[in-house]
Amino acid sequence: MEKVLVVANQKGGVGKTTTAVNLAVGLAELKREILLVDLDPQANATSGLVPDASVRASWAEAGVTTYEAIIGQAELSQIVRAISRSLFLTPAGPNLVGAEIELVSVADRERRLKEVLSAVDHQYDYIIIDTPPSLGLLTLNALVAADSVIIPMQCEYYALEGLSALLKTVKRVHDTLNPHLKIGGILLTMFDSRNRLSHEVAQEIRQHFAGQVFNSVIPRNVRISESPSHGLSVLDYESKSAGAQSYRALATELDQRRSAVHSAPAGQRQSSYEVGNQPKHQGKES
Ligand SMILES: Nc1ncnc2c1ncn2[C@@H]1O[C@H](COP(=O)(O)OP(=O)(O)OP(=O)(O)O)[C@@H](O)[C@H]1O
Ligand SMILES: [Mg+2]
Repeated sequence: MEKVLVVANQKGGVGKTTTAVNLAVGLAELKREILLVDLDPQANATSGLVPDASVRASWAEAGVTTYEAIIGQAELSQIVRAISRSLFLTPAGPNLVGAEIELVSVADRERRLKEVLSAVDHQYDYIIIDTPPSLGLLTLNALVAADSVIIPMQCEYYALEGLSALLKTVKRVHDTLNPHLKIGGILLTMFDSRNRLSHEVAQEIRQHFAGQVFNSVIPRNVRISESPSHGLSVLDYESKSAGAQSYRALATELDQRRSAVHSAPAGQRQSSYEVGNQPKHQGKES
């Protein structure tokens, strides 16, 4: 079942955190129970929903962040914070950066997050993991724990740069550590309809990844960029904005796809795209 979704792209600033937060809120609006896991030492998902820096600092001091959960120093139940009736968060703090180093010597170091989440996953309809802009041990833990990867791609030149490294990592994890892992879809973000390049890049991505791109497209929208400084999702900050509506559409698309899969006869089920022979693309690679 497509329950644990990881938002990943090692390219920085493509809209991972924005997508993790707003998709989580969009699914919660659909009355789904959501756990949002902040697995990025930058802790942007946490600060985007919990604007009070002193509250965040108190969690870090008390040792009740995602970091302590994955290194086994705290129970997840001590860490989970209610953001709304259906949305829960495991907050990150800067100490998470230490996990990349400390986990190196730990047995089953790539499976730590999976073990932690498997104890609670029956309590939620979706678990959404926000990852840092790297393919290090934290992102690896997220991929091992996940059923499905959502890849935000900015509609800008160089969008495809680095994508093949990400797809290779996803395939390697699928082949070795997590056979359930699928590509949930590529999400076009920061689309600017007035900009010809945005259209060209979107078209190129849709051509190369035919059938793997979400129909919902996230526009470049100033309300989206303003909302984190108010400690709100864009859905709560400016409910009628184009940005809020696009993330609602994404939540509905994803949730309906999962419902359709569940009602389809066995054998005809495809909730997402198999990891395997990825189409070739001509974008710049790193
Ligand atoms: N659709 C959008 N329209 C306008 N601004 C956006 C949009 N999506 C994201 N942004 C802004 O772009 C910046 C980068 O977005 P975000 O933090 O979500 O990217 P990221 O991939 O999580 O970055 P990082 O790799 O550093 O974790 C943020 O300032 C965010 O508010
Ligand atoms: Mg981020």
